[in-house]
Amino acid sequence: MSPARGGRWTAADVPSQSGRTAVVTGASGGIGLETAKVLAGRGATVILAGRDINKANRVAERLRAEVGAASVRVVRLDLASLVSVREAADEIRAASPRLDLLINNAGVMTPPYQRTQDGFELTFGTNHLGHFALTGLVLDRLLAIPGSRIVTVSSIGHTGGVMHFDDLQFERGYNASHAYGQSKLANLLFTYQLQARLAAAGADAIALAAHPGIVRTDLWRTSSITERVLISPRLRVLNFWAVHSPQLGALPTLRAAVDPAARGGEYYGPSSRREYTGPPARVESHPRSHDVASQHRLWQVSEQLTGVSYNIPAPPDE
Ligand SMILES: NC(=O)c1ccc[n+]([C@@H]2O[C@H](COP(=O)([O-])OP(=O)(O)OC[C@H]3O[C@@H](n4cnc5c(N)ncnc54)[C@H](OP(=O)(O)O)[C@@H]3O)[C@@H](O)[C@H]2O)c1
Repeated sequence: MSPARGGRWTAADVPSQSGRTAVVTGASGGIGLETAKVLAGRGATVILAGRDINKANRVAERLRAEVGAASVRVVRLDLASLVSVREAADEIRAASPRLDLLINNAGVMTPPYQRTQDGFELTFGTNHLGHFALTGLVLDRLLAIPGSRIVTVSSIGHTGGVMHFDDLQFERGYNASHAYGQSKLANLLFTYQLQARLAAAGADAIALAAHPGIVRTDLWRTSSITERVLISPRLRVLNFWAVHSPQLGALPTLRAAVDPAARGGEYYGPSSRREYTGPPARVESHPRSHDVASQHRLWQVSEQLTGVSYNIPAPPDE
């Protein structure tokens, strides 16, 4: 596929998604909404997975009206509750015998210290453990579908992230930025290990990751005043180079999800201005995300904590 606009990959490069089914988590706002909108506009059946069912229903109505989406469904999913994740997975499985795309997009950033219903630190529980469980519970619907993909949304913030394996839930002291960095590093460790297992199992599905750069969304609502001022639309003349729109922020996710040239284990993000903004392209993640021992350790602890086991073993040579 050749990019439609002067070598820049845009939403116009998304091929027809007719006959395909996509699940997008956190699709009721921000980058998830824009991702769902483009996929629905290209003919996909889109399952909007959101924790506030009324909000998700309103978004579904908007998609039907704005892009003439033929088929939009809503599923209630609260990633901060394993009961809800299991119910959502059951609903998704009942609704669709095949899944082509699972977009693990939902997330929280730097909230005050809170725990999920299962007692996990909220950021790690939502951003990583909830998605780990959801993916495992619907994976069989993707495994044998040619061209199926699992795309997990990470962040530049992963570069400062470290896995606190001796205190994953920050019980010995909470630092919101460290918690976010850990969760976004976990998104990448998970993606690369999932890809290794899918490849070893000879599955048709592949796993990729993406990050949106810096995007003006509600995610920043719990950030410091300084950060909120820095991304403010009022400062657009100054911050335009470093902050972009949800529409542009969705492009790396979309490229990872649909570009026929993309391969399992790749990571997509904005390609210029320190990866804050710019056209979506393949980018590199921090070497810590490729540490296979950390990938195994995270996988094991995630299976223990969520009670969700995957039916695809690690490659024998790892
Ligand atoms: N914005 C950025 O600059 C930026 C930078 C790097 C990475 N990212 C990543 O991009 C992804 C999307 O973020 P965004 O910027 O679009 O933020 P956003 O506008 O705040 O959207 C986040 C979405 O996640 C949902 N969500 C939060 N907690 C949830 C839970 N427990 N269960 C289910 N859904 C939940 C939210 O639902 P509600 O609508 O109910 O709140 C919302 O739909 C996140 O993974 C984030 O880490 C964003």
